[in-house]
Amino acid sequence: MKNFEMNHTLRQLPEQYFAALVSKVQKLINEGADIINLGQGNPDQPTATHIIESLQNAADNPTFHRYPPFQGYPFFKEAVATFYKREYGVTIDPATEVCILFGGKAGLVEISQCLLNPGDVALVPDPGYPDYWSGVALAGGKMVMMPLLEKNQFLPDYNLLHLDDIEKAKVMFLNYPNNPTGAVAPPTFFDETISFAKQHHICVVHDFAYGSIGFDGIKPTSFLAREGAKDTGIEIYTLSKTYNMAGWRVGFAVGNASVIQMLNLYQDHMYVSLFGAVQQAATTALLGPQDCVEMLVSLYEERRNTFIDGLQSIGWEVKAPKGSFFAWLPCPKGMSSTEFADLLLYEAHIVVAPGKGFGDYGEGYVRVGLLEDKEKLNEAIERIAKLNLF
Ligand SMILES: Cc1ncc(COP(=O)(O)O)c(C=O)c1O
Repeated sequence: MKNFEMNHTLRQLPEQYFAALVSKVQKLINEGADIINLGQGNPDQPTATHIIESLQNAADNPTFHRYPPFQGYPFFKEAVATFYKREYGVTIDPATEVCILFGGKAGLVEISQCLLNPGDVALVPDPGYPDYWSGVALAGGKMVMMPLLEKNQFLPDYNLLHLDDIEKAKVMFLNYPNNPTGAVAPPTFFDETISFAKQHHICVVHDFAYGSIGFDGIKPTSFLAREGAKDTGIEIYTLSKTYNMAGWRVGFAVGNASVIQMLNLYQDHMYVSLFGAVQQAATTALLGPQDCVEMLVSLYEERRNTFIDGLQSIGWEVKAPKGSFFAWLPCPKGMSSTEFADLLLYEAHIVVAPGKGFGDYGEGYVRVGLLEDKEKLNEAIERIAKLNLF
């Protein structure tokens, strides 16, 4: 077979840092190792029964067997508006301020195709979710990293950015509750962001993937709930985490109408819309009983407490995340995140994600996903204790 050559755009895509880790883990599994995988971000709990039943019923509806309308069904967009009002007190116009997405990831990559010309700057959190990089690379944009430092509660410091970069910036990605650090942003941080973004005409894209997962009684703040946010940005929400629907591929963008219109235009040329039955079931998720969400957040909080308390009890000085389902743990002194992740993998059969994979400022940390039950988390603590590292 003759191999064809990739075009320039695809060649600009960043390397998949975690691919090497995945193949190392698979090799050990094939050799029969009893692996505890805390390296991924794939929710382990099932979707609530009433949402699944909604999909089952909708699958019988012949309307949904035909093409859905471009840009999705109005009933789903109305449900999004009702959800935002109920959860965050934010008024959204379903006709002009909602764009239905094939999961948050799609929107996060698409937004750079909408806003960036080659050479334009995207301000990107470091450490951060690598899909932002993919979108910027596809658009031929330039990434300027915003370090998220522990001493700043993992919030970017806009004063450290160079004026030249700020002037070229068209878009800024933020994500709170944060993957990978587990940080939650105070409302005042969004106010500061809005004033900075307005001053420099930068579109803020707030990735609210973990919007429902806050601990110790904290409900994470929606960027859109702050005054002036809609003038300067959008929020991207997904049903993957809140409703354990990662496999369903459904999310939405809300906010600034001009940006929503661009996303819709882009999608008009790429897709029609999601399967109507998925839109129906997603509507049920947003408007139906929310006790499944409360139970999920309590479950993650319990796991967080078990894991963090356990690690502290063996002498590892770790801090408890305030939201998301990740813990961001400092590596032992003198060890890089890749060396430490390899040590845990080969000596304890525990998978964690090396912080370097989330950016240069992720070096010195590993990310743990609290996506195993308490028994497994306790076993992981016992295995780590036996390594006598702390
Ligand atoms: C920070 C962050 N944003 C967005 C997503 C995308 O989620 P989805 O594409 O399932 O909606 C994820 C998934 O892991 C994530 O961690």
